[in-house]
Amino acid sequence: MHNANRRYWDNAAEGWEKLRDEDGLWLRCPREPELGFAGGALRLIREAAGDLADKDVCIVGSGDNYAAFALAGMGARVTSIDISEKQLAVAAKRANRLGLAITFLQADAACPSPVETETFDLVCTTNGFFVWLADLRAVFSELYRILRPGGHYICYDIHPFQRPWKDQKGPVEVGKPYWETGPFRDSKDGTFEFNWTLADILNPLASAGFILRRMLESPAGDSRFWQGHSYLPGTDEDLLHWRENPRSALPVWLTLALQRPARGT
Ligand SMILES: C[S@@+](CC[C@H](N)C(=O)[O-])C[C@H]1O[C@@H](n2cnc3c(N)ncnc32)[C@H](O)[C@@H]1O
Repeated sequence: MHNANRRYWDNAAEGWEKLRDEDGLWLRCPREPELGFAGGALRLIREAAGDLADKDVCIVGSGDNYAAFALAGMGARVTSIDISEKQLAVAAKRANRLGLAITFLQADAACPSPVETETFDLVCTTNGFFVWLADLRAVFSELYRILRPGGHYICYDIHPFQRPWKDQKGPVEVGKPYWETGPFRDSKDGTFEFNWTLADILNPLASAGFILRRMLESPAGDSRFWQGHSYLPGTDEDLLHWRENPRSALPVWLTLALQRPARGT
């Protein structure tokens, strides 16, 4: 299933490159790191990891790499891992243009990568990553392995409570039960997606050995969340009001700050 997803992302990379070039926000990420994060994740990164100058940071499932550009702009030594070589090639071209020295590495997050054990002070995964993963236990074990003892894993992703509903402004209508998690095969793209529950996410994190330090559940900061894939500011404020768009009465972002225990604790 991950190989099918990799093929899709390789084929889609050019289209995503064009879409992101339309607004050019990636050019601003190193100076405006908040553009690389949502759901309070940047605040949790600052709280957990402090000054990033000279810290070793890894973004996994790095996609557009806005988070990688942001953290490199904050002074971190950044490694960017993605399953898609084509996505990484676009990001490497952009990093070059931005003058950022980022290491790009192709790997499936569910498999042990060539990265040495206990390499990073901070690992991040961001928006739209969990949905591609067939085996969260394998992924979280790998993230734990590459973190140094005492290191932090910060993630934000679409909140599981957004998954059961049909994608329409109103009325709110159930599209599937919360516990129907997939795999969902897209017959057009050939991809396999998963809609994990909160328990599906938290339990394998605990099994991997992580300590949960903070959890945030946030609304969309911008109506863009409900309006497709562009990152330009949303155009329909009504979508942020639950009477107009009942799904906005539930959190859209799940943000977690986790820690690998320090040695001897
Ligand atoms: C929707 S994008 C979102 C990623 C990123 N957070 C962003 O904001 O651009 C999903 C990315 O995850 C990558 N991906 C999917 N499955 C993966 C896996 N098993 N291991 C590593 N990367 C994966 C895809 O290649 C794609 O670049």
